[in-house]
Amino acid sequence: MSTSPLTALRALPLDVLRRRHSTKWRAYPDDVIPMFVAETDFPLAEPITGVLTDAIAIGDTGYTPPDPGLRDAYAAFASRRFGWDIDPARIRSTADVMMGVVELLRATISPGDRVVIAPPVYPPFAICIPEAGGVVEEVPLVDTGAAWQLDLLGIEAALAGGARAVLLCNPHNPTGTVHSRESLAALADLAAGFGAVVISDEIHAPLVQPGIGYTPFLAASTTAAEVGYAVTSASKAYNLAGLKCALMITASDRTTAVLRGLSPEVEWRTGLFGALAGVAAFSPESDPWLDAQLVTLDENGHLLGDLLAEHLPLARYRKPDAGYLAWIDLSAYGWGDDPARHILAGARVALHHGPEFGTQGSGHVRLNFGCSPELLSEAVTRIGSLVGR
Ligand SMILES: Cc1ncc(COP(=O)(O)O)c(C=O)c1O
Repeated sequence: MSTSPLTALRALPLDVLRRRHSTKWRAYPDDVIPMFVAETDFPLAEPITGVLTDAIAIGDTGYTPPDPGLRDAYAAFASRRFGWDIDPARIRSTADVMMGVVELLRATISPGDRVVIAPPVYPPFAICIPEAGGVVEEVPLVDTGAAWQLDLLGIEAALAGGARAVLLCNPHNPTGTVHSRESLAALADLAAGFGAVVISDEIHAPLVQPGIGYTPFLAASTTAAEVGYAVTSASKAYNLAGLKCALMITASDRTTAVLRGLSPEVEWRTGLFGALAGVAAFSPESDPWLDAQLVTLDENGHLLGDLLAEHLPLARYRKPDAGYLAWIDLSAYGWGDDPARHILAGARVALHHGPEFGTQGSGHVRLNFGCSPELLSEAVTRIGSLVGR
């Protein structure tokens, strides 16, 4: 087991990053600083590099076996990191989180059923619900001025009006909100009361900052375990999105029967490299790397606040409790509904477009700070230079 000390993680140099083939580095020309899509600029955790290098050396590029060790690895990770005990037999894999969400929705709703989402939220939520035959019903997050919260009264009204499912983002993208155990348990009670299900996307869970206190939805209460499905992956926390592997998790006999009823094809689509990398990521040997990344992200989240105060003092930003995505309100600058367009054109920084997260995203941008402090400073300085121009 690695004995690396807990230190911050350093991003790879820009010239190395520009050799990457992923969307983040190929979508725009080289004069643009890419801070839009959720990929990070850090070197991979060593256990992951090791397992993938070994696999390439022996041409181990075939199909994923029925149990590559992922379920046990994730159950051990969840117990170690979240204090959550899950039965590995109640887990199945698939290619990615959104595929898991679509397949679980298909299995739990009927065509035309309404599914609640809480915008501003990860844009593919509004795409995958129709893909599964559902209809999106928006119950926006409530901004208290100090935090974002689920609108439980609004969700109750939606369920009372016939919505059959809630697609939860826990932690929430783009605000980085970690929902409280109480609100999750209350959501579970509402779902149970109206015979609905909750599908909880927990892809950002390994990136909750220490001391915040994270509750996986299925662990919120015995009712949550009855009504909920969780979908997660190592892909955000360990930057493995291209390897195609995610986990669907249940915690009751009824939901496990639904999970087991999914077509074998759903599991067959799991990428072998994703499974191998996922086992390595969730192993205790990768914990020092994850802890170091959390330190770096905490520092970057604070640095972003300082940079905004200096260069864009009218920006509204709250440091996220989880992850590397910052939700920033730039409406005071009068850069229109979609400031990311103005910023790309004038500052050559690519941010995620706020309005894609819902109408609440008007005047907002989402910025990915999973990068070096130098690049973050350069980006915010460039954006700041647009002020008054
Ligand atoms: C909340 C959320 N869910 C899902 C995904 C995508 O995951 P996958 O590539 O496994 O579908 C992302 C990617 O950023 C995300 O933020």
